[in-house]
Parts: sequence; structure tokens; C-alpha cells
Amino acid sequence: RMLKRQMRCRLDIDRLNAVFLAIYESLIPPEEEKVKQKQFFMLLEKLVNKEWPEAGLYIYGSCANSFGVSKSDIDVCLAIEDAEINKSEVLLKLADILQSDNLQNVQLPILLDIFRGFCSCCSKALTRARVPIVKLMDPATGISCDICINNVLAVVNTKLLRDYAQIDVRLRQLAFIVKHWAKSRGVNATYQGTLSSYAYVLMCIHFLQQRRPAILPCLQCDSSRRMVFSVVLPKHCLFSLVMEIGHTYSVTVDDIQCAYFDQVEKLRGFGSGNKETIARLVWAFFNYWAYSHDYANAVISVRTGSILSKHEKEWTRRNGNDRHLICIEDPFEISHDLGRVVDKFSLKVLREEFERAADILHNDPNPCATLFEPY
Ligand code: CTP
Ligand code: MG
Repeated sequence: RMLKRQMRCRLDIDRLNAVFLAIYESLIPPEEEKVKQKQFFMLLEKLVNKEWPEAGLYIYGSCANSFGVSKSDIDVCLAIEDAEINKSEVLLKLADILQSDNLQNVQLPILLDIFRGFCSCCSKALTRARVPIVKLMDPATGISCDICINNVLAVVNTKLLRDYAQIDVRLRQLAFIVKHWAKSRGVNATYQGTLSSYAYVLMCIHFLQQRRPAILPCLQCDSSRRMVFSVVLPKHCLFSLVMEIGHTYSVTVDDIQCAYFDQVEKLRGFGSGNKETIARLVWAFFNYWAYSHDYANAVISVRTGSILSKHEKEWTRRNGNDRHLICIEDPFEISHDLGRVVDKFSLKVLREEFERAADILHNDPNPCATLFEPY
């Protein structure tokens, strides 16, 4: 009977595939939106370069990591190589420039706010200050933008996420659905103790690294490791490829060495031995976080492509305001647990939401309407 139930579930779930794909397609930002973002960024670059000719301006976050849905804010990092700078002073100067500059025929961005100790993903949280930011809005397009100073690690982890997204389209599809669900259900707010979009994308990457056969490899695994993977070609020929994946990209940021295999075009087809549909993966994702994840002991780690223990990370007890109730290791800043904002109460909320999603996908005849129902 159990087998029958599983079979039915498999068939029913796969029937939802077209619906999930349609939702994914509807969330992709249109090309003209990307063009407008680029134009706005170029305007900012021009203004900034006048004051700091040596500085670099980078887009990070969802507009650059390929997990941005339509109408996302732009996250921008101003990188200034000067150990002595005071970030708040630079931000005030930047705000000043943005208000007073008068480039001809250019409508200047409107300064919305300056947060001296707040971060783009939790700007309402007084106690969780990580990165000071300036908030802007482009009056011509309505595009909003957060600028921070020297948050170069975020630029690098943005590239890592973008590179993962190129290996198998199911990552982007799954992450869009999960982010859409998290926003609809109100569990995407670090200032309320739930998780950032960045954390959700890492959960998706980790989940796809864990499928059998794996859908994603581990790009940061030890250099010169041999990776064997099967590629299924048309007419069901199966090829096994053996590749050396060394660290083809390496930078040191804030004393942290960030290195991984970034020639991802060579890894297309990596997951083709796994035929799971997006609907099935969405269901399995929620099922994992609802019923299989070991909250008491496990740390998910994209860096190692495995599950680590809280014990080995020394994440067994609360440290000030940081708790380790749901543990998601940052791929580069490995002492950073992205779940640190989650407390006892918000963990309960999160787990109930995972269970709700898993149960809806299992039992509801029309699950998509209920799954994304505003909370
Ligand atoms: N980031 C980080 N560490 C965190 C949170 C965020 O390094 N604890 C960086 C990541 O580079 C991330 C970016 O900040 O891509 C923006 O974070 P977030 O707003 O969570 O993700 P987005 O991808 O921009 O998602 P959204 O579409 O919700 O804006
Ligand atoms: Mg963002």
C-alpha cells in the first residue's frame, strides 16, 4: 500500500510540473528591466568615479546572481582600497554627491535613507548591523538600490551562486519557487528571525548537491579532485566523464581565501543522470526541511557538499544573540551561520511552514494556489 501511495504521489507530483514551470517563467525579469538596471548602474558608476576614480562599483545580490525575480532591488557595492576609510563618512559623502551633482540631462537618483549600521537584507534590525548602506531610488524607472561599502565577500559569493546556476537550470527554477513561497508566506525577513534569500538559495544548492544522482557538484571541493559524472545524451547513450576540477578562481578578501572551480560551462550536463522534475524537487525540498533534516545536530555546507555536525563547527550553544537552531554555513565566511538570526519562536514558524508546504504538495488537489497563499 505504501508503494502504491508513493507511486501515486510521484505521478501526481509530476503532473504539477507545467504549473511550477509557468510560475517560474512568470517570475523571470523581462529583458527591458535588465537593460534599465544596467543603465541606472552606469549612471551611478559615472557619479562615483568622479569622486573616487580608483574605486570599483559592483552589482551583487539577486540582480547579479541570477536568482532575481522581476522588480528586485539592486544591491551595489562600492569597493575602495583604503584600510583607513570610515564607511559611514564615505556613505555620507556618497549621499552628498548623489544629491548635489548636476550632470546635464540626467535625472538624479533620489536618496531615500542612509543606514549607518544596517544591512540590505535586514535593514530594520537595530541589533543585527553588519553593513552600512545608502538607499536610493531612480525616479525615471522606480528602481530602488542599496549601496554598501567594501562588502566584497558578497560580490564573490554572488559569483559563486551565479556559477552554480549555470550548471543545471533546475537550481534556478527551484530557488525561484522557494523564494516566491518564502516571500508569500512571510518567512523571508531576517529582522523577524526568518531566513534571507541568500540562505534559501544556499539551501537549494545544498539540496541539489545531495540528490542521488547529484544534480549539482561541489565547486569548492579540494583542488585537483577527480570528479566522475555521467552525461545522458539523446537516444539514452550514457557517457561517463572524468574531470579534474581544480580551483580555477581564487581571490583573497578580508583575509579569507575564496577559491573554487569556476569553469562551469564544462559542467553543463552534470545533473543529466538525474531525471527528477522540478515539481518533484520542490516537493522533496519541503519534505526534507519538514521531516528529514536533523535540526539538533546538522549543519548544511555548500562548501563541502555535505552535512557537517554542529559539534565539529562548535555551534552547539547560543553566542550572544546568535543561535544555531538551523545551521547554514556560509561558503566563504565559514564561521558565519546564516541561520544565526533564527530563534526558538521563528524556528517553530519556519518548521510549521515547511510542514505546511510538504503536506499541501502531498494532499491538496490544487496545491499551487494554497502553497503561495499570502500569510
Ligand atoms: N549576503 C551575504 N550574507 C548574508 C546575507 C546576504 O553575503 N548574510 C549577500 C549575498 O551576496 C546576497 C546579497 O547579500 O546575494 C543580497 O542578499 P539577499 O537580499 O538575502 O539576497 P538577494 O539575492 O538579493 O534576494 P532578494 O531577491 O530577496 O533581494
Ligand atoms: Mg537583494
